[in-house]
This record gives sequence, C-alpha cells and structure tokens, in this order.
Amino acid sequence: MKRVFIIVLDSLGIGEEPDAALFKDHDCNTLKRISYSGNFRFSSMKKMGMGNIDGVDYLQPEKRPLAAVARLQERSMGKDTTIGHWEIAGIVSPSPLPTYPDGFPDDIINEFEKKTGCGVLCNKPYSGTQVIADYGDEHLKTGKLIVYTSADSVFQIAAHTNKVPLEKLYEYCRAAREILKGKHAVGRVIARPFTGEHGSFTRTADRHDFSLLPPKETLLDALKAEGKTVYAIGKINDIFAGRGVTEHIMTHGNTEGMAAALGALDKDFEGLCFINLVDFDMLYGHRQDIDGYAAAFAEFDRWLPSFTAKMKKDDVLMITADHGCDPGDSHTDHSREYVPLIMYGNNIKPVNLGTRSGFCDIAATVSAYLHSGYRGDGESFLDDVLKPTDDEKKLCDAAFSAMANSYSPYSGYKVGAALLCSCGRIYTGCNIENAAFSPTVCAERTAVFKAVSEGIRDFKMLAVCGGKDGKISGIFPPCGVCRQVLSEFCDPDMPVLMMKSKKTFDRKKLKDLIPYSFSLGK
Ligand code: THU
Repeated sequence: MKRVFIIVLDSLGIGEEPDAALFKDHDCNTLKRISYSGNFRFSSMKKMGMGNIDGVDYLQPEKRPLAAVARLQERSMGKDTTIGHWEIAGIVSPSPLPTYPDGFPDDIINEFEKKTGCGVLCNKPYSGTQVIADYGDEHLKTGKLIVYTSADSVFQIAAHTNKVPLEKLYEYCRAAREILKGKHAVGRVIARPFTGEHGSFTRTADRHDFSLLPPKETLLDALKAEGKTVYAIGKINDIFAGRGVTEHIMTHGNTEGMAAALGALDKDFEGLCFINLVDFDMLYGHRQDIDGYAAAFAEFDRWLPSFTAKMKKDDVLMITADHGCDPGDSHTDHSREYVPLIMYGNNIKPVNLGTRSGFCDIAATVSAYLHSGYRGDGESFLDDVLKPTDDEKKLCDAAFSAMANSYSPYSGYKVGAALLCSCGRIYTGCNIENAAFSPTVCAERTAVFKAVSEGIRDFKMLAVCGGKDGKISGIFPPCGVCRQVLSEFCDPDMPVLMMKSKKTFDRKKLKDLIPYSFSLGK
C-alpha cells in the first residue's frame, strides 16, 4: 500500500525568485529571516538535509542527509495560496488571480446588489476586525452587506447573524461566486458572520470559503477517479473547492493539523494525504511576527520525528511550501520565493536535486509513485530519487556478471546487459567483437536477440554496465542502433538502468533515450 503525505508549511519560502521584482518583492527570504530568531530550532530538518538545499547557505548542511531535497521555483504567475497549491497539484496558472486594491468595479457590485436585493457597504481592502467595528452599526441599521477585500484575491462578505441568518449569508456568497467569473474570477469568496453588540462585535467560527474551482484536472481529481484515497487536512479541501477530495478534516492551526497528520498514519489507505499547516502564514507571516514564526517552525521541527517514526515501509513524506511570506520584509503580503522540497521515505534516496522549475513536479512525481495515469504540467523526478528495488538489484548483478563474458580484444571495453522479461526470466548479453570490426554486436542486442530467438518479446527492464579490466568505469548508455532495436520490442516507458557501479545507476525511460524511434508510419 503506497501512501504519500504532502505537508505544506504555508508560506515557508526560501529566498526570492529571479522575477520577485515583478511582484514588488525584494530582499525577502522567509526561512533566512526566522533563522536569526532566538526561537529558531533546526534539528530534525537539518538531519533531513534542509541546509543542503540550493541557496540555504545560512544554515548548516548535513553530511549524510536522510532525505532527497530540492529548491523549487514557481512557474505560475502568482504568489497566493490557491495558485501555489494548484501548482503543487499539477496545474501551472499563467496569470495571477485578480486583486482589488481600489475595491470591486461598479458592474460587479451592481450585479451583486441585484442578485441579493441588498445594498453594499465599504467595498475596499480592510482589516476583518476593523471592518465590523466601523461598518457594523450601519449594516444593522440598513441591512446593507459589508463587502471588503484584502491584498489577496478575495471577495469577503460580513454580516451580523441577527440580521442575516447563516444560510442566507452562504446563499449570498454563492451568488457572488456566480458573478465572479472570467477576469474577475477571485480565488475565494468568504462568508464572515459576526455577532455581538455595538462596540464589541466579534467574528464567529462559521467563516466559510467558496473557492474557485481548479481550471483543469488536478492530481487529486485523477487519484480520486482511480479509486484511491485523497485525504485532505486543514484548508486543503477549501483550496480545491472539495474537488478530488475523498475525506477531509478541517483543523484550527498547526498543532491540530500535526495531530491529524499523525492520525492519518494510522489509517489504511492507498493514495495521498495532503496537509496544510496554516499558522506560519496566517498568524506569523502576515503579522510580521518573526519570533512567532520561528517558534512555530521549532514546534514542527520537534514534532517531525514522531511522524517519521510511524511511517510504514512504502510511505513517502514530502515537505514543501506554497509561496513565501517574509515576516521581516517591507510589507505584510506574501512574497515571491522559492520553496523547499524535502522528500523522505524508506524507498527514497537522499539525493540533492538542485533547483527545479515548477512546484508541479511534485504532482508528477507523486503520480508516478502511486502508478496513477495523471501527468499535469510537471515532470516526475521519481527516477532520480527512488532507491533500487529488489528487481533492479538482481538485474544489475546479472548485467555485471555478463560483463565478464565480453569478447572485446579490439576495444578492450567489456559491456554487460541484462533484460528482465515479464515472465521473470532474465536474459543477459555481452559485446562480441570481430576482427572485421563492423560485425561487432553490442551487449544489449545480444540479450534482446537471445530472448526473441527463444520466443520471448515481453520486456520489463534493462540494465547495462561497462568498463575496462573487469571494473565498471562510467556509464555506458546504449548506442543508437541498440536503442532502435529496443524500441522495436519494448514499451517506451520501460526503465533502462545505466549503471555507475555495481549498486548505483541512472534510471531513465527508453522514450527518454529514443524519443523518435524509426517506425513504418505507426
Ligand atoms: N558497445 C555495447 O556493447 N553496447 C553499446 O550500446 C555501445 C557499444 C560495445 C561495442 C564495442 O565492443 C565496445 O562497446 C566499444 O565500442
């Protein structure tokens, strides 16, 4: 049973992206900023290898990290929660969600008034607590709805529960959602009910988000359609407007989110558990609270070993973020930053993947790991991080043994190949040279021809190694002729292991080695 747990540390960016200026950001680095706080703790995350990530040179690197790591650059033109999570789930958004620093245009407000039959107050960016203090009385007197926004792509409606029953407020939100389409497709319409008397209005816990539907199929949709579990913890369900989610728990804050994540480890399922820890952003990033942010990071760092200790053999954990929100930069808004990726599990090799373009590579990689058909906008890096399986180890041993039989008096290079067939048999081959040079046959073709001549044409994997004096020296990628021969019989997705030593290899797919093989108009 394969399970992937993605934990989003909401807003934990690791340094400005090259195009940060386009987003009015400079000198932002959320992780670096909090690392100077006395509350910062860097123990489990250090062991994972967070200090080895590109650009994280202000934290100690780890000699023997436990996890694969990468720095991910956002391909979407946005820096908000919705777009960030959509990209993690496979969708690149070419334009940001609309924001309204001067309030919503008249045509939107007029239509909203027509649909709801209520007038509108405020219509400006405003603090949520201040807006009810300033407009609460007038709202109660006139019945007009308090509409406001923020630096985020949100249309918020505040109403007193005595004046507008909760269900009615939700109905107004749905009406707004209907109107806010096309270029006015805001990320979220938010119901903001409040209670209390003049001078002491307070917001209730019945806030509800009406999110924009993802514009294309996400990893979540695909997994659900394939019958796998998609378990959402925290605001994930809202971010995807519930789409592609099979089960969800709404949590209040990081502590509850982390407890729910531990609870998810006890469940039996195949698929994805997608967790958002919101406090980093909501309580500390926006409020420019560096020490609070650092303390929340320390709490996570302290908690992490309790999670990894409970992980099962085929579980994979991915820790990442959706954007930055530097608590020490010049504004309270999000920041356009790279995000970290830490990928840990029994099946995962601790490699450093450098800097990759696209959070969406996460979706492609999870999809490949869970054998889903989902592709999305990203590229899988699974082949770079997966530890050798038992089949792969066996095949590498066979290729290495076959190398010894090489007949190569002219070049001196011994090459061995091993081909795993669907029936489980392994056919090996070596290079066989000839004094006339051109009759020479490569190791790969020897293996293929042996198998085909015995009636076997169904192949699952190939391993190749080569070198001089019986030792593997460098990789020996199959030559063009062998690639063409392999493409005649093998699936384009068939893994090809190009061995670097008896136990290590670069894992490629046949289609990566020969994307356009010759075919008779197939
Ligand atoms: N060789 C292979 O066995 N496989 C290949 O795909 C490329 C080359 C062998 C042929 C020759 O005996 C030696 O490597 C040096 O070219």
